[in-house]
Order: sequence, then structure tokens, then C-alpha cells
Amino acid sequence: MTKDIKIALTGDRPTGHLHLGHFVGSIQNRLKLQDEVDKSYYMVADIQGLTDNAENPDKVRGNVLEVALDNLACGIDPKKTIMFIQSEIPEIAELTVLFLNLVTLARLKRNPTVKDEMKQKGFGEDVPAGFLAYPISQAADILFCKSNLIPVGEDQLPVIEQVNEIVLKFNSLYGEVFQKVKPVLSETTRLIGTDGNSKMGKSLNNGIYLSDSKEEISKKVMNMFTDPNHIHVEDRGNVEGNVVFTYLDIFDEKKEEVAELKKQYEKGGLGDVVIKKRLIEVLENVIGPIRERREQLAKDPRVVMKILEDGTKEARKIAKETMAEVRKAIKIDFF
Ligand code: TRP
Repeated sequence: MTKDIKIALTGDRPTGHLHLGHFVGSIQNRLKLQDEVDKSYYMVADIQGLTDNAENPDKVRGNVLEVALDNLACGIDPKKTIMFIQSEIPEIAELTVLFLNLVTLARLKRNPTVKDEMKQKGFGEDVPAGFLAYPISQAADILFCKSNLIPVGEDQLPVIEQVNEIVLKFNSLYGEVFQKVKPVLSETTRLIGTDGNSKMGKSLNNGIYLSDSKEEISKKVMNMFTDPNHIHVEDRGNVEGNVVFTYLDIFDEKKEEVAELKKQYEKGGLGDVVIKKRLIEVLENVIGPIRERREQLAKDPRVVMKILEDGTKEARKIAKETMAEVRKAIKIDFF
């Protein structure tokens, strides 16, 4: 019976505002899932945020509200989704410690996601142990409430794979406590950055944010990478690898018109400014309503904090139940 219960969980590190990459990679699926599953959780992963920001707690603290605002503005509904703060659930930390014994150092070092991030952050061998081990704490994030559907971007797949290894190992040692979990991927699993870089990222400075003003969106689109050989309007242009067309494909609902524009662009006779102006309008249609709702919500942060507080209380109840079961399974239930 319990095997069929669908429980979704996802989260964001509070290290900055969320961008369009998060929106297409995961948030759209979160919205869909909150209407479909039996239970849905959203976590502000501040402890994970600290794994590479230990020296900067103010940044993590400040962004807790920002990522919650981004999600609420997109339509995450606290009546349907339990929204909570990771650090306020000590059972997650407790579960992490127990899971640490089930994973080898060699396995952690092999995780391609962590490897990529380590390279990007320039850690080398001097990586904080907490950062290297974040897939283990993410397993605890997911399993403390026995969630099994995880909307994530493609880059997180190796982390989910590691979570499932922990499930198998745990169950084989201590009995069937956890179920395998499933990543939920979106159609657009990875959004390229405005500069044509393969990934939109905070540190890459190539993002369009859900809180950007129309002016910011315009500026970013006007500077977008297109086809470096498309200099004059009459020139034949390339739509492959052209960021403006890549975005139109994803965000413009008028697919036939986009197909027509692509043909024109390839033949020559269509200037970059025309397609960029179109994209600005298309993106404003997506971001405008989110920005407006965000500004409304931001007027009273206490309301948002109360949502997180209430959600945290609810999540904590479940966390205690799971921990009792885990302690019993591992034979560390004394008093
Ligand atoms: N690692 C995720 C990211 O960087 C954030 C995250 C933390 C998460 N805990 C999670 C995502 C649990 C899904 C489930 O985007």
C-alpha cells in the first residue's frame, strides 16, 4: 500500500536569486507535481548552502527569504506544498551522520556533479568535507520524509543516483526502511546561458533572473550571443547554438512563427534586433507576472517567514517519526 504513495520533494540552496534555468529545469515540474502527488515538500537548503559558504553565513541567511519568494511567486502554494527550512530539522543532520557510514570517500570523489562543481569553484584537494559529502546530506533531505519523486535539473542526476545507492545499502544492512527515489526531469533539462555557455549559472554571470526588471531583461537579451558571422541583415544566419532562437524555442508559444523566423534568418534578411525584441516581449510575458507577485509578497516578509515556520513544524513531525524507525533499525534506540 504505502509503496504507491507519491511524495515529491525538492529544494534550492539559498545562495542567490533563482533564474530561468531553475524555472524550466525544476520549478515548472514542482508546480505540476504539487497538484498531482499525495504530498509535496519544498526545502530551503541552507545547510547545503553553507557547505561552500561557511565563511559567509550572511549571504545564506539573506537568501532564505529570496528563494522562498521566488518559489511562491512562481506559484508554489503553501496549502499544497509544505515549505520548510533545512537547518530547522535537526533530524536531517542526524540522518546524514548515519548515512556517512554507508558511502566511501572514493565514491564521493567520483560523483560527476560534485567534481564539476569543485572544478568550477576551484577547490582542488582543499574541498570542504561537507561539500564533498553534500550528496549524502541530500539523501537525508529526501529520505527523512520518505519522498520518492524529486524534480531536479539534469545536473543533479548523479546525486539522485547516489541517494538510491544509500537506500539499497541501508535496506540491505538494516531492513526495508526506505524506497528508491525517482528524479523528475523536465523537457528542457538544462538552459544555456545568455553568453552561449552550456549552463546558466549564478557564478557564470550569464543568467536572467525571475526578479529581473524589464530593463534588465532587455539589456541581457540585447547582449545575447547569436551568430558571430551574422553581421549584416542580409547575411545568412545560423540558428544552431544561437541563444536567441534557443530561448524562443523554449519560451515562445507561437511555434509556427518561430519556425518561419528561423527560415528567414537562415536565408538572410532578418536582423538580430528583430528577433531580440521579440524575445524580450516573450520573456517579459513569463517573468512579468512572477516579478509582480514577488514584489507583492516581498512587502511583508513576516508572512513568508510564517509560511516557512508552519511548514517546518509539519515537516519536523514526520522527521521524528522516520528517525524513530531508523534508530530502531540501526539498534540505537536506547531510552
Ligand atoms: N542540490 C540541489 C541544487 O543545488 C538543491 C537541493 C538540496 C535539493 N537538497 C535537495 C534538490 C533535495 C532536490 C532534493 O539545486
